Amino acid sequence: MSAAPGPIAPHGGTLVDRLDPDLDEGGGRPRVTLSPRQQADLDLIAVGAMSPLEGFMDRAAYESVLTDMRLPSGLAWSVPVTLAVQPAELEQVGSASEVELVDASGRFLGVMEVTDRFETDQRREARLVYGTEEDAHPGVASLYAHGTTCLAGPVRVAARMPLDPGAAPYLLDPRESRAAFDGLGWSTVVGFQTRNPIHRAHEYITKVALETVDGLFLHPLVGETKSDDIPADVRMRCYEALIEHYYPKERVVLGVLPAAMRYAGPREAVLHAIMRQNYGCTHFIVGRDHAGVGSYYGTYDAHRIFDDVTREELAIQPEFFEHAFWCNLTGGMATTKTSPSAPEQRVFLSGTKVREMLGRGEIPPVEFTRPEVAQILIQAYQTA
Ligand code: ADX
Repeated sequence: MSAAPGPIAPHGGTLVDRLDPDLDEGGGRPRVTLSPRQQADLDLIAVGAMSPLEGFMDRAAYESVLTDMRLPSGLAWSVPVTLAVQPAELEQVGSASEVELVDASGRFLGVMEVTDRFETDQRREARLVYGTEEDAHPGVASLYAHGTTCLAGPVRVAARMPLDPGAAPYLLDPRESRAAFDGLGWSTVVGFQTRNPIHRAHEYITKVALETVDGLFLHPLVGETKSDDIPADVRMRCYEALIEHYYPKERVVLGVLPAAMRYAGPREAVLHAIMRQNYGCTHFIVGRDHAGVGSYYGTYDAHRIFDDVTREELAIQPEFFEHAFWCNLTGGMATTKTSPSAPEQRVFLSGTKVREMLGRGEIPPVEFTRPEVAQILIQAYQTA
């Protein structure tokens, strides 16, 4: 660990660095196979995106995160980052003090010092983190697919998570994004999380935020998402087109967050904010139903959760946005905070409707999406 560049201190004060490219694979340690989500967590821990975490959580941290939404130190933390191990592998681990972490193909990723081992109650975790026990929720289904016994301890990481080739050129680790912001002379930076192509509502809220800060960190999540979400390489082309045509380039940095989506709504909004602070953002956009899925969360639950967190517990400033839409009354993007329009004067297209239009090769109205973005999506739909 060392002092970090950038306009804001990392969460907890120090940027964690657990990368060790010279790490030795040998030594006959028992192996633990990581799921894609666990591998993404490992990657984020290694580069300091999950500072102050230096490894997978132990029982004390897990319990405190579940019940208090804080680490035992009192810092805000909203989602458990645990290493649940499948029973067959647990037997081989026995009482080993170190385990080797590998991916599904057996590739060596790193080493974990085992400092704790504990049982979890998955239904309780689902209730407290996701607000539901239903396995129709993709985050809950993923939780249930993992084991119930967790190993915990600090990690050292030799190999990074592979990224989609479309996203790989945009990988900026927290130390690099912080240095980039310093290089641009930015003292305030707003981070934007997204798992979708950027439509007019996203463009609007990022630009409203950009009016009040020095720069925008466009930071799409490119780890594992639901199968009906648009793949990362297609989304990256949409972001490139949008920046090219519709943003002042010198005020935007495009990076990628190699995290898996948990769809944990409000709890995930807090985690997303924490990670963006680690990447050097001073502000973070939280819009309508942030990180939500289906109808599991209220439209503004992800705003209200920040009421429970003080600035001492989480330094990054959340920027809340109401549901944005194209407004025919005022002839521009708006929310109910800025336009007195009636519902029928607002352009609203459901995700399903948009997918159907794109599938038929039709460009959705310009009030909904920029044509350059629509073209990329149509092409992707037709070659899929
Ligand atoms: S998310 O899972 O990453 O939240 P998405 O990419 O759709 O999904 O959203 C990115 C960000 O934009 C989130 O903060 C979300 O709340 C916000 N957002 C998406 N659509 C709108 C909208 N129409 N109005 C206001 N905020 C929105």
